[in-house]
Amino acid sequence: MAISRKILSTMEKSSWIRRMFESGAKLKAEYGNDNVFDFSLGNPNLDPPAEFQEALSRHAADTTPRLHSYMPNAGYPPVREKVAGFISKEYGVPLDSGKVLMTVGAGGALNVALKSLINHGDYILCPSPYFMEYQFYCDNHGGVLNAVPTGPDFLPNIERLAEEIGPRTAALIINFPNNPTGTVYTQEYLDRLGEMLSVKSRENNRTIYLISDEPYRKIVYGEVEPGSVFKAYPHSMIATSYSKDLSIPGERIGWLAIHPEAEDAENLVNAAILCNRILGYVNAPALMQRVVGDLQGISADVDIYRRKRDMICDILGNAGYEFTKPAGTFYLFPKAPGGDDLRVVQALQQERILTVPGRGFGREGYFRIAFCVEDAVIEASAAGFKTVLRQFK
Ligand SMILES: Cc1ncc(COP(=O)(O)O)c(C=O)c1O
Repeated sequence: MAISRKILSTMEKSSWIRRMFESGAKLKAEYGNDNVFDFSLGNPNLDPPAEFQEALSRHAADTTPRLHSYMPNAGYPPVREKVAGFISKEYGVPLDSGKVLMTVGAGGALNVALKSLINHGDYILCPSPYFMEYQFYCDNHGGVLNAVPTGPDFLPNIERLAEEIGPRTAALIINFPNNPTGTVYTQEYLDRLGEMLSVKSRENNRTIYLISDEPYRKIVYGEVEPGSVFKAYPHSMIATSYSKDLSIPGERIGWLAIHPEAEDAENLVNAAILCNRILGYVNAPALMQRVVGDLQGISADVDIYRRKRDMICDILGNAGYEFTKPAGTFYLFPKAPGGDDLRVVQALQQERILTVPGRGFGREGYFRIAFCVEDAVIEASAAGFKTVLRQFK
């Protein structure tokens, strides 16, 4: 067998989301696109904002000589400057552009951060449910993901996380607004988390870095304001992208920012820049850097996602599902009626409704609905959701 054993086994257990996507494609071929209600992928269905098209046309028309040459591995200095300005305002901590690295999406930012920090065999803590790629990203760099279940409110229990921290814990990854639950962490919560990390870092004589993955930060509905990890804990970094809020996941553009007072901040930045290069990314996509540089603070119309959220919540609430209304993201993570997420997802498939079982996010007994779809799809799914709930009552 030519393929590495590790990759073969990863292929076997890899993504439930992809699996649902593939069975969805089959259903669509059989019944037609309009008759399959596909809530399986977090692929934003809104068009990018008009400002994006305008900036893209303008930068694409630029004929400055050698514009397409290699650049510093961290990205264009003027773009890093603009991003640092945005971060300073948004996160309430002044940051210079030297602490910002332009990346190949949030996925690229996370890989760069993890490669910079992990010694072989280190543990990376993460509350579950979680975005499954974390497991593979940690493994890419010789680390082991230690997923710690959250309670029914999906807020990571700080004492429970503290119990898991030992001398081989390199970092904690958090993600909010959260995929798959939509939970948003407040400043008060992050402050308590930061306090715990400071205590445990002292106890273990090893700084635990906090990596906050925030690609959904602008997709919030006004009920809970997202806090700032930079205000809560100095040894923190933020990984994010423009994938979700500008609806451009295919363009692969994001950034990694390192707190100016993080332990070894200067070296850490240089490590991250090196990792960006030697992971083969070299630098983030050039044209997209120039485009997003001009779009700081801009996002797709979140009111549209709010309307979709309210529609799907009404449908599920009326049918009798149990769930927490998400304060952000375009995901809903209801309890699987009867408790078996796989059976519920299969029953929904019979109704041509595609969702992802909670076990695809490290949490059985729930399922994920990605409501970044047309209103008509949400409306047309109501009968199927009702039918399935009745089967499990
Ligand atoms: C929580 C989370 N982190 C990271 C990513 C990766 O984002 P990107 O496409 O910008 O790499 C995703 C994508 O779905 C995500 O849901």
